Amino acid sequence: MIRVLGIETSCDETAASVVSLRDDGLPDILSNVVLSQIEEHAAFGGIVPEIAARAHVEALDGLVEAALADAGLSLGEVDAVAATAGPGLVGGLIVGLMTAKAIARAAGKPLLAVNHLEGHALTPRLTDRIAFPYLLLLVSGGHTQIVLVRGVGDYQRWATTIDDALGEAFDKTAKLLALPHPGGPSVERAAEAGDPARFAFPAPMKGAERPDFSFSGLKTAVRQAASAIAPLSDQDVADICASFQAAVTASLSDRVGRALARFRAEHPEVADPALVVAGGVAANLRIREALQALCATNGFTFIAPPHRLCGDNAAMIAWAGIERLRAGIAEDGMAAMPRSRWPLDSVSEPVVGHGRRGAKA
Ligand code: KG4
Ligand code: ZN
Repeated sequence: MIRVLGIETSCDETAASVVSLRDDGLPDILSNVVLSQIEEHAAFGGIVPEIAARAHVEALDGLVEAALADAGLSLGEVDAVAATAGPGLVGGLIVGLMTAKAIARAAGKPLLAVNHLEGHALTPRLTDRIAFPYLLLLVSGGHTQIVLVRGVGDYQRWATTIDDALGEAFDKTAKLLALPHPGGPSVERAAEAGDPARFAFPAPMKGAERPDFSFSGLKTAVRQAASAIAPLSDQDVADICASFQAAVTASLSDRVGRALARFRAEHPEVADPALVVAGGVAANLRIREALQALCATNGFTFIAPPHRLCGDNAAMIAWAGIERLRAGIAEDGMAAMPRSRWPLDSVSEPVVGHGRRGAKA
């Protein structure tokens, strides 16, 4: 039995959780508390790093206490403390990692410095216990990547965005249309009443040879369409949102479809291949439906962890800590420094401009 306290503070959610690996080998989320800072940032139409860091300072101690109380455990009863050390906004990372170091030192427990992206990447093993290797589509406010997950600590990035992250494209579209922050849910809600065929926005990179994503051209097309018909009625806004989502979905399907074919070609030994979607944008129903259909056509199992485990949370950080302990590759985190940039796959060449503009770039 291993129990790990996880701490996550890399963006605008403060989170703490206790996860255990039971003696029968099954994981158990004993507690999972998340405090979103959406209201603190709403007036600014985006995440303000200084405000985020201060809010983490104020909330974190209470959340750690709540996570332990919900789990019915004292600090002495956990085996290790795991904290996100990057990538993310450095102010928040400092708060989470330093708090975790203090707790670990005071309680005499080992500290695990976890890569936030590894937390997302290993979540389907917590929720669905799937086996390596599998494909991960990570779509959040700071990341848009397709990653081959080969094992704990063993990742190969197959595609990334060459400009904006997908969540960022949703957020910018919302801002342009004066819809409330965060943009993803606003755009999705507005799109429900819209006509996805009214505007023929380009599906970025569709058919392109290189495997990557790009969303800044789509953003420009949306801006031009909106200014051409301004002032916008509610119906105009709904139609733009629906057309935007249609373009995004077509682009994702094309890009992910290529990755599925590559996985098939490179891993013929995997009888039941799986695609996992993670990150905040994975909450989008249209996107989920499109990916589900794509997987069905290509004989892949589609896995979308429940929403509370798709967006940022600390259960995934605690779980990544457990996976590392179990794999015997946990390093002493006491010497770890917060890292605003920390690619999962240190081998693949960085792509020009990728992720730089995201909150978590
Ligand atoms: O994973 P997450 O909670 O935090 C980051 O790591 O960035 O993702 C937040 C992003 C935001 O850009 C938000 O607008 C987007 O996910 N998002 C959505 C939806 N819900 C959240 N995008 C599209 N549709 C949604 N329903
Ligand atoms: Zn995230």
